[in-house]
Amino acid sequence: MKFFVDTADTEEIRELADTGLLDGVTTNPSLVAKTGRDFFEVLKEICGLIDGPVSAEVAATEYKAMLEEGKKLAGLAENIAVKVPLTMAGLKTCAELSRAGTQVNVTLCFSAAQAILAAKAGATFVSPFVGRLDDIGQTGMDLIGDIVQIYDNYPAITTEVLVASIRNPTHIVDAALMGADVCTIPPAVLKQLVSHPLTDKGLAAFLADWEKTGQNILG
Ligand code: E4P
Repeated sequence: MKFFVDTADTEEIRELADTGLLDGVTTNPSLVAKTGRDFFEVLKEICGLIDGPVSAEVAATEYKAMLEEGKKLAGLAENIAVKVPLTMAGLKTCAELSRAGTQVNVTLCFSAAQAILAAKAGATFVSPFVGRLDDIGQTGMDLIGDIVQIYDNYPAITTEVLVASIRNPTHIVDAALMGADVCTIPPAVLKQLVSHPLTDKGLAAFLADWEKTGQNILG
């Protein structure tokens, strides 16, 4: 399973890219607004930090303008994945950009029916939002299971299931168990993944015992 980081904060991306754990980045208008920086400057910087896909979202809602924005974003760097909303205009834009060889991430997916349409439109990624479904009392991960199963039924579908709106490490483990292709993870949750109290306790005991040997590995 691939790991994308869900942020537009270049310092956070730089820090995580250094770990070698990152396969891509997703941004959205809210994440860009949080940085207070120029959209294009931020995106170009992110694309230089990471080789994998960097999702950049259009702001237009009508097909023609959306397509124009998508082409402009795609021209920024080779690794841009144009992010379009799961609307009729978004699907139409997705189909057009995909035909031209541009990677497209269809976002704001909340149903299996919508995910089927994203695949039909040739999306590179579909982004079901699990946390926002949990927030309204549904089980977001059920949607991931359904989409993975549907896509598996049709080997010709190449659209990758990109689990978005992740709130905790359990979402990621469940996504892996279900066979999702990608998780886009907020930096804080990515850091939570590594922590286990027994790791800390075990390491402290090993280090204390090693100290007693009086030896030094590097001589
Ligand atoms: C990523 O592509 C999505 O925009 C993001 O995961 C949404 O997360 P949120 O529901 O926490 O805003």
